[in-house]
Amino acid sequence: MDPSLHAPFPAHRPRRLRRSGWIRDMVRETRLSPADLIWPVFVREGRGIEEPIPSMPGVSRVSVDLLPRLAEEALALGIPCLALFPQTDPALKTPDAAEALNPDNLVCRATRAVKTAVPGIGVMLDVALDPYNSDGHDGILRDGVIVNDETVALLCRQAVVQAGAGADILGPSDMMDGRVAAIRRALDEAGHADVAILSYAAKYASAFYGPFRDAIGSAGALKGDKKTYQMDPANSDEALREVAIDLSEGADMVMVKPGLPYLDICRRVKDAFGVPTFAYQVSGEYAMIEAAARNGWLDGERAMMESLIAFRRAGCDGILTYFAPRAARLLRDAA
Ligand code: PBG
Repeated sequence: MDPSLHAPFPAHRPRRLRRSGWIRDMVRETRLSPADLIWPVFVREGRGIEEPIPSMPGVSRVSVDLLPRLAEEALALGIPCLALFPQTDPALKTPDAAEALNPDNLVCRATRAVKTAVPGIGVMLDVALDPYNSDGHDGILRDGVIVNDETVALLCRQAVVQAGAGADILGPSDMMDGRVAAIRRALDEAGHADVAILSYAAKYASAFYGPFRDAIGSAGALKGDKKTYQMDPANSDEALREVAIDLSEGADMVMVKPGLPYLDICRRVKDAFGVPTFAYQVSGEYAMIEAAARNGWLDGERAMMESLIAFRRAGCDGILTYFAPRAARLLRDAA
């Protein structure tokens, strides 16, 4: 845009379009709607339990029997999709992550509970081994190395099990090479051609996942870090290559993760590919805003809404966010 196309001051006064609420509404470039939100939910064993997660104030792990109520709430608020994450019993975690392949594992039972009670809500599941792996990694660890191809073979089986439980969208979040193509093929061969893939295409090795690892109970287990498979936060061109690879392998939608510190990546991805692009406002981003708000250092509601519109402005079609129900309620009340 050529700035000289504007009349100079005093003919041009940008403040004219900010004078009052109605005119700001009229010229607003981007909007946020509950339909843009995916609500990540932590699931646990037991009955009638809502267990607060200390490092994510305001977020709880809920038992499977409470999920239908929560799904109804999402539907009523206009939130289209839940992303379910299991806190697996530590006794079920093994080096081969076998529980990931159990069609009756926690996340599969949770998925069936939601889809049976509230078929009109979408369910997304992570394809990755970290909730099931005794060493906390997304892949299989052998002699200190995360082995790629062996992991991909397991991810394919995990994806088929999850699709069988009724998941609508699968999110490979493991960052193994070649996984999207392999998972797509496995799903198709198993009769799940309609299950969509939203790949965690540009997923960075980030400190902002800390509270999530508390929530699913993988923090204590994690040996080392995830830098041999998740991306270096210093890289941007590489994110475009990762997205191109995943799209060429059959991803229907792509994700950038974390969110706010990586808005430049969101914008580049949207501009370069024009495909449905999502960002994950991760646990640590949520915790930062919430901690400051609870200390009285920030206006929590305003910070929440400002952070969410930033994703839309950066080109994202949607956002995975722990704020989903609160933001949707606020949007409803404002309408
Ligand atoms: C695991 C996974 C992680 C998140 C989503 N899926 C953590 C990780 O990669 O260690 C993070 C989400 C969050 O922090 O909110 N594959």
